[in-house]
Amino acid sequence: MPEPHVFVIFGGTGDLARRKLLPAMYRNLVASGMSEQSVVLGLSSADIDDADYRVMAREALVEAGLDGAAPWCDDRVYFQQLTRDEPDLQRLRAKLAAIEQKHVLPGNRIFYLALPPGAFPKVISNLSAAGLNAGPGWTRLVIEKPFGRDLESAKRLNDLVHQQFNEDQVYRIDHYLGKETVRNLLAFRFANLLFETSWNRDRIDAVEITVAETLGIGTRAAYYDNAGVVRDMVQNHLAQLLALVAMEAPHSFDADAIRDEKVQLLKSIRSIDLEELTLGQYERGEVESVTVPGYREEDAVPVDSTTPTYISFRIDIDNWRWQGVPFYVRTGKRLPEKNSHVAVRFRPPPTCLFHGELDECETHQNVIKLILQPNEGFELHFDVKSPGESLRLVGEQLRFMYADRFDSIPDAYQTLILDIMNGDQTLFVRADEVEESWRLFDPVVTAAASGHPLLTYPAGTWGPEGRHTPIEWASGPIRGEVTRSPR
Ligand code: BG6
Repeated sequence: MPEPHVFVIFGGTGDLARRKLLPAMYRNLVASGMSEQSVVLGLSSADIDDADYRVMAREALVEAGLDGAAPWCDDRVYFQQLTRDEPDLQRLRAKLAAIEQKHVLPGNRIFYLALPPGAFPKVISNLSAAGLNAGPGWTRLVIEKPFGRDLESAKRLNDLVHQQFNEDQVYRIDHYLGKETVRNLLAFRFANLLFETSWNRDRIDAVEITVAETLGIGTRAAYYDNAGVVRDMVQNHLAQLLALVAMEAPHSFDADAIRDEKVQLLKSIRSIDLEELTLGQYERGEVESVTVPGYREEDAVPVDSTTPTYISFRIDIDNWRWQGVPFYVRTGKRLPEKNSHVAVRFRPPPTCLFHGELDECETHQNVIKLILQPNEGFELHFDVKSPGESLRLVGEQLRFMYADRFDSIPDAYQTLILDIMNGDQTLFVRADEVEESWRLFDPVVTAAASGHPLLTYPAGTWGPEGRHTPIEWASGPIRGEVTRSPR
């Protein structure tokens, strides 16, 4: 049960607040009988009042399939207009005081920056100048991604944050860490000795991480064309997946113990070999039977944009567990299907006892495929002798699907918001973690900006042609998986 607090959303009328934050808060608070614990205060430059904002909040909740929210909105949701020329945040302080008095709250506050990244420094400085970085109760600062544009700017932002806040007040959001299947990566590995004892260079041949999206950039051209796939997906979501798949066991499930191990892992990664880096940009094509425009044809994207929307690269980890095991990573927009997974391919048997036609070895490499979304679950691919006289092997699968076992999976934001309310930092990115990740991907950002070949791919295909081939499995290729990019 979170302690009573005010949840302040900078960017309270924005897309994130409407689509994710308000529904997640409602589910956490009202559906779980905890509505007394929190009051929501939306902030933005919109010229509206409490009543208008309540209507907006209600509509957002209805859109999220949450009816009957009027009493909560009327009782626990407020709004304050704030403009850029109010560095002392006077109207915010007055509103907070009024809300805290009315609801008899002890002065615990969460400040959630659901803002474009360029606005973070100013708001952080203003909060502190207005004396809102501490007390009367606890104060927590939540910062959305992307955290910085590169290593230098991430360091500057960390410095600024640390001048005004202690690290234990700071929650850097990466919503992938709130996904149930991503959280399960540690449970899968460290609660199941069977898997963890094989999770190393002695048994594993290669690991592949794919985050494939069918979506394009929607209405976010202004942000995306500036960010590109490395800043948007790789430095944060993909780096986190990689860290969870490859890190050592933490000494406990404590937030810092886990984050220490993630940092260690990121530090062990060798500089990315730019020879193995493929960058792509989608052209007009067909996704799920609908013709979609190419990236350069999207609204507000410059016709000569060189922003990559697809990337694949190889990671090598220089530590005892992973030396010599390649990790192939890729993500892209406008691929044929939404499909995020980690495929772990095991080594082949040392000698071949089973020969098929033409005396070729018939065995296939075992694969564990952890399906992050959609159709969450995992598959274990193995060989079985097909019944009958001859020694023919066929590839089969053991499969676990969340949907077969659990009614529903909470949304990532729901999990993360509850953790912020409860002061649990485990699923949030620590300052050193974000910097280590930038150290790794800074050269990739630089390469993308300075003439690394940008290939094209038709929307609805698996990225630039010829760069990757799917893993062949007896029952057909595992769709959309990569083996390696040819040098
Ligand atoms: C966001 C990116 O962080 O993650 C988007 O900014 C991307 O570009 C999204 O589409 C993907 O999230 P999910 O949860 O749909 O995999």
